[in-house]
Formats: sequence, C-alpha cells, structure tokens
Amino acid sequence: MAARGNFSSRIGFIAAAAGSAVGLGNIWGFPYEAGAGGGAIFVLVYLFFCFALCFPVMLTELAIGRKSGRNAVGAFDALGHKKWNFIGKLGVLSGALILSFYNVIAGWAFGYTFEMASGNFAITEHFKEYTTNIYAVGIYGFLFMVSTAFIVSKGVSGGIEKAAKILMPSLIVMMVSLILYSLFLPNAMAGIKFFLLPDFTKLTLSVAFNAMGQAFFSLSLGMGTFITYGSYISKNDNLVSSAALITLTDVGIAIIAGLMIFPLIGFISGGTLSGVGRGPELIFVTLPHIFGEIGPTAGSIVGMIFFSLLCFAALTSTVSLLEVPVSYVIDEFKISRKKAAWLMSGIVYLIGIPSLMGNGYSAYFSEFITYVSASAPTDFLSFIVNVANDSFLPLGGALMIFFAAHIWKRENLEAEISMGFEGYEKSWVRKYLRFVMPILLPATLIIMFSMIVL
Ligand code: PFF
Repeated sequence: MAARGNFSSRIGFIAAAAGSAVGLGNIWGFPYEAGAGGGAIFVLVYLFFCFALCFPVMLTELAIGRKSGRNAVGAFDALGHKKWNFIGKLGVLSGALILSFYNVIAGWAFGYTFEMASGNFAITEHFKEYTTNIYAVGIYGFLFMVSTAFIVSKGVSGGIEKAAKILMPSLIVMMVSLILYSLFLPNAMAGIKFFLLPDFTKLTLSVAFNAMGQAFFSLSLGMGTFITYGSYISKNDNLVSSAALITLTDVGIAIIAGLMIFPLIGFISGGTLSGVGRGPELIFVTLPHIFGEIGPTAGSIVGMIFFSLLCFAALTSTVSLLEVPVSYVIDEFKISRKKAAWLMSGIVYLIGIPSLMGNGYSAYFSEFITYVSASAPTDFLSFIVNVANDSFLPLGGALMIFFAAHIWKRENLEAEISMGFEGYEKSWVRKYLRFVMPILLPATLIIMFSMIVL
C-alpha cells in the first residue's frame, strides 16, 4: 500500500478529505441552488440529506476503501464482488463529468483573481461577455487543469496536505469577516430572511431532488472519492468521528457562504431579491459588489485574496476529482501515476469544452435542452450538473449502501466501521445503520426515480 502513497497523519487525511468536500460546491453551488430552490426550504432539505443520508454513505465509502485498500473500482473486486464494480465505474464516469465542468468554473474564479487585482468591479455588469470570451477563460481553465494534474501526478500526500491546513482556515476567516461587513448593508435582512425562514409552500419534488444532488456533490460522495481516500487511511482511525468532522465542516462552510451572499442579494436588489441572476453566475455577480463597497484599493486587495483562496479550495477538490479516475487506471491498467494524471486530465479538459462554450459563445450549447424538463432550454454546464451531480451521485451513493448492506454484508461493514471506534456496539451509529437506513434508502430511491420519470 505504501507505493500508492499514504496520508502522513490522521489530520492530514482529514485536511485532504475536508479539502475535497469544501470547494466550489459550497461557495458557488450551494448559494445558487438555494436561491433557485426557494431559499430556506432548500437549505432545510439539504441539511436533512447531508446528515441523514450522506453521512452514512460517507462511512460506507470509507469502510469499503479502508478494507479493500483499492481504488473506486478495484475495491469491489478486492472484496470479492467483481460483478458490482460497475458502481465504481459509474463513479469514475461521474468524476470525469463533474471535473469537466468544475474546471470551467474554477477557470472563471482564477480569472476573477486578476480582474479583482485590477479593480474591475464593473465586471458584474459584463459577466456574460467575460464567459463568452472562451479563449481567455479557456486558458485560465487550462492552467487550472495543469495545476491539478501536476499535484495528482506527485501523489496524494505532501504539499497539498500542508497547504490545506493553512489556507482553509484563512478562507473561513475571510468569509466570516465579509458576512459581518455585508450584514450592515441596506436591505441585507431581506436576503437573510429568504435564506433562513423557510416557506413550506415552496417544497416540491424538484427542490428535494436538487437538494439531494447538492448534498452529495458538496460532500464529494457517490463516486468513490472516499473509497479512494479511505484506502490510504490507517486501521486505527475512527471512521465515524472523521466522517462527522468532515460533514460538519463542509455543511458549516456552505451555510457561511449563504450568509455571505444572501445579504448581498438583498442589498443589490434593493430588498426585492429579484433581478439578480440565480444561476451559475450568482457569486460572480454578487461578490464584486461587496468588494466595490469596501473601496477601490482595499476592495481590490480583499477581492484578489478572496478569489485566490476560492481557487485553492477548488484545487483541493479538483485534485480529489481527478484522483478517482487516475487511481483507477494506475491500479487496473498498471500505468505510472504521472502518465495517468496527464492523460486523464487531458481527456477531461476536452470533455469540458461544451461547458466552456455553453455560456454565451455557442448558441447550441448555451441553450442545450435539459432532460428534466424538455421545455426549458438549459446550458450544457447546467445539464451536466443535472445528470452527474443530481442523478449519478445519489444513485452511486444508494448503490454503495445497497452493496455494503446486502452483498458485502452488514456484519462486514460494521466490523470495519467499529475498528478504531471503542463502544461501537452501544453507539447510535449502529442503531441508525441497522434500523433507519433500510427505510430511508428505498424512500430516497423512490423520490429520485419519480423525479426522473415525471
Ligand atoms: N465537493 C466538492 C465541492 O463541493 O466543490 C466537489 C466534488 C469533489 C464533488 C470531489 C465530488 C468529488 F468527488
């Protein structure tokens, strides 16, 4: 196992796993999904899925990974159930699809670092032109992918662990400071109310569907990332407390991002909350406002630091996204880590080109028809979000739990989870896995499939 690389310590693993979870999904994805999904009601359903469903999926992935010591696909073979490795293959596909669009957004964020440095707060008004210029944003995306491939080619432990320990807390401090600032802007409270006071009449199946997808995406679950990372951790680690810490950190940062952005929506819209884009452009049009408010020089410095930290958060996620297909091809096709990293990142970059072109440059990809509602033209990037985040990840997570409970067998799953966890026999986790999950899992599948069919 040493040859595959190991985390240098438990903290190293937590930092890398939390680094995978915390990323654009929290700061870019969560606010826009919440804004489109009716505000606080979306947040409630999202929290439910994070804790009730995703947390056990995380435990299951870690247990499968640690027991097998293999990648997302090979893990199933190593446990003696080769027939089920299609779950891992679905994960590799999801990873490639997600990374393909994720890298486009990361490229935008990377470009914004320079826009903020030059004090271009007016970019808010010209966001469409910004993304339409695919040669510029494509190059930023390309550089981002190269950085990801470079880190993955060097192996999972090392620099990234150390950097995550310093930069992630810096990002949190910065976001909390921005919350304190934005709360005092005029009409901030209208945004906060929308984010925190649920309107139950807005609860629909499609809100639940998107909230579930967002929960899986934000926690990096359902595609084997945590199988892969689990394969690098020690038998003495307590999987339950690690999973709890990662989940709490991730959810906490999503809520912080919401508290930072919704007051701004209140402010920009003059309290009406309308007229502010609610799609993938959300953070790119709201945040420069706050930086502009702070003042030209200070705002430009703060904006530049903010987007650099955001890029770093995205990088620890893209690394984990690429790690899934890369560790798969290393283990299964016996090619070197270096070759695997460059090859897979090249392929994924190409898959991302329609997402890159679908934000103004190409009319075809900008109005790609979504499979969820044939009547609503949707850009290609949002289409992939629908397919990969909202469908493949929950499906993958549900399949993993089904596999662990019924094929690998619950006793084996529990034996792995109880390792490093004193008092497991009497814990609530055991009761939850035995009595609640068997009901929750089919219920979730029914919601999901009814959504796809309707
Ligand atoms: N969780 C990451 C985010 O919220 O930005 C995205 C992600 C990373 C999804 C890794 C899936 C994954 F395997």
